[in-house]
Amino acid sequence: MDANESELRPQAVSGKLRLRAVVTFLLVLIFVSCVLSPLTNAATPITFDEKQRLWVLQSGEATYAFGVNERGELQHLYWGKRIGAQDLTKAHSLPEWASFDLSTTTTPQEYPGWGAGLYVEPALKATFANGNRDVVLYYVDQKLEANNLEITLKDEISALFVHLHYRVYPDSGILERSAQIENRTSEEVTLESAQSASWTLPRDGSYRLHYLTGRWAGEWQLQTETLQIGKRVIESRRGSTGNEANPWFAIDETDKTDETHGPVWFGQLGWSGSWRFTIERTSDQYRVTGGFNPFDFGYRLSPGESLQTPPFYAGFTDGGLGEASRILHRYQLEQILPGSPHPRIRPVLYNSWEATEFSVDEAGQMALAEKAARLGVERFVVDDGWFGERNNDHAGLGDWYVNSRKFPRGLKSLIDRVHQLGMDFGLWVEPEMVNPDSDLYRRHPDWVMNFRGRPRTEGRNQLVLNLARDDVKEYIFSGLDRLVTENDIGLLKWDYNRNWSEPGWPEAPFADQKKIWVRYVQNLYDIIDRLRSKHPRLEIEGCSGGGARVDLGMLRRVDQVWPSDNTDALDRLTIQYGFTQAYSPHVMMAWVTDVPNGINDRVTPLRFRFLVAMTGSLGVGGNLNKWSDDEIAVASKMISFYKQIRATVQDGNLVRLVSPIESEFSAIQYVSQDSQQVVVFAFLHSQQFGRSVPLLYLQGLPEDAMYSVTTIDNRSEEHTGKLSGAYLMHHGIQLRLGGDYDATAMKLDRVQ
Ligand code: DGJ
Repeated sequence: MDANESELRPQAVSGKLRLRAVVTFLLVLIFVSCVLSPLTNAATPITFDEKQRLWVLQSGEATYAFGVNERGELQHLYWGKRIGAQDLTKAHSLPEWASFDLSTTTTPQEYPGWGAGLYVEPALKATFANGNRDVVLYYVDQKLEANNLEITLKDEISALFVHLHYRVYPDSGILERSAQIENRTSEEVTLESAQSASWTLPRDGSYRLHYLTGRWAGEWQLQTETLQIGKRVIESRRGSTGNEANPWFAIDETDKTDETHGPVWFGQLGWSGSWRFTIERTSDQYRVTGGFNPFDFGYRLSPGESLQTPPFYAGFTDGGLGEASRILHRYQLEQILPGSPHPRIRPVLYNSWEATEFSVDEAGQMALAEKAARLGVERFVVDDGWFGERNNDHAGLGDWYVNSRKFPRGLKSLIDRVHQLGMDFGLWVEPEMVNPDSDLYRRHPDWVMNFRGRPRTEGRNQLVLNLARDDVKEYIFSGLDRLVTENDIGLLKWDYNRNWSEPGWPEAPFADQKKIWVRYVQNLYDIIDRLRSKHPRLEIEGCSGGGARVDLGMLRRVDQVWPSDNTDALDRLTIQYGFTQAYSPHVMMAWVTDVPNGINDRVTPLRFRFLVAMTGSLGVGGNLNKWSDDEIAVASKMISFYKQIRATVQDGNLVRLVSPIESEFSAIQYVSQDSQQVVVFAFLHSQQFGRSVPLLYLQGLPEDAMYSVTTIDNRSEEHTGKLSGAYLMHHGIQLRLGGDYDATAMKLDRVQ
């Protein structure tokens, strides 16, 4: 119809159009309500059933639910494989067990206060100004906005409020929880335990607990044990995350779960100070409670004040321990790391520490930089020794000015040269520490944490600055800001080489001195956050004498971490195996260093060292001045191969094919996010009786996909040509590895 025609018959046409519009509208309505609506509901991450006072949180393959019971407590109802909101009903408290275990204890509360008859681990313990130490929390109200839910609880008598925050990450399977404790009374309240969350597992399982322990040079050891009745505490009382244990757990079902199948409940805390997980099995319940470590904790809340606990992230999968790790890796890449959801691919790095230790100077570093650039290194990092009177670990920390004997022209000429060589420049700092033999300490002996009039215990000849003090915080910020402003620095390696001792804060009011446990970490975060926002191109490597401060609080602020000072390739296999249970290979720096290794005198071939390091973010840390032409050639070849696979290794899906803990032979597979590339590494620790290594079966590939195969060498029967997913998974690959410390890597690019 043309315009004129329509002008001639306006009435009839508009009537027809109106009818058509009404019919279309009705059809759309029917379609939405019959077809789309159930889907929309299924996809709603948080639903609240007001009548039943019930919340159902859906994330990934998991459902998490709780409700208000008849007493008004917030009661946990379900955490496990996805079910519908309609499958759940109103919370009702559980009966007491005789007169000894009262209903307060047998009923799993979402966030129990220590009060009434509670014998399980409380999430909150407080003392009121009048000496009352009883906290019983009841539901008040809720605020639900898309993926965020805030539940407010209140003590039954006093105006002590708790705001529970739940955030659902709908696709990932991760749920984030934290609590904000608010004093609305007219007097002070002192908190003695403030946990982020209590997580309740289904009560009739038989469970195993997996957790990570370690010590310097032996971090990330995976432990597994059956959960018995009682409490299993893993914690740090050290002021920082620590390497004795890491704030990660995974719990699975003894007879149902392995690497590829079965239920796993897992979690991670986002806090870089002292923390505690209490994993508790009673006759009625399995619970994990975690947050600030209650040891020596005392947080005074003035009227109107509140305390925010750290975020506690947790998830569930039915896909075994491997899938639990992959969910965490993906979540870290998409939600936690700076630059998420697409954190920058890690450049190949050179670090001077093992080559030169404290003997750094302009000429020496330039010589190393020239050689590193020739290998294909992209970032050159000068480690310890460039500042103050830092000739060994006895002096200099705190004096963050360039040592003019070592660098008479400042750092600029070295940085310029590094840039000319096509690399960016990184620099080591340890801002939270001071040597008593330093100008800073001579000026401000009161700036370290200490108990007045008592000795100050040194570790590595250094003391910990009290970052809880705002003047110390400002000093550290401005020193780093100046350093980064005056020098073109792409990366700061932020080290932290001891734990706390004498954690006193004598200048603070007596009742606030224990706040040091919290305030220190908050101020540390504040320094890093301000520095990064003022210098958006700056990246940071988190280090604590190795891996003693790796947690999701730190990973929000650093681009990569140093997992261990142990660079022996064989030890690294188990260290990295443990590390990647909890953290993404993207952040896991791994250097190739010289042999015999300084930790254990072990000599391993350069290829083996490279291939072990290439399973994370690759770095080189050997003294390149001593490398032979052959070694340089091997290194260049490895680095160039690594650049072809690093996106898959750093950001892909990691599949643990064969554990280095269980056998002499181990293997790892990575699949790129777009499924177009698969990378496989295999390591033979030592061969006995000439036995060939077992066939290696890949996992999770489409059966009919075809891959073209490239190996770093020809140590496999299948080292060229094309192979199908079915072949790789069912026929398996026969690797030709032999002798001690042999290794290989394969790149499989999808061709159809
Ligand atoms: C401990 C770190 O882990 C090492 O890599 C190195 O940076 C030294 N500190 C320097 O003192």
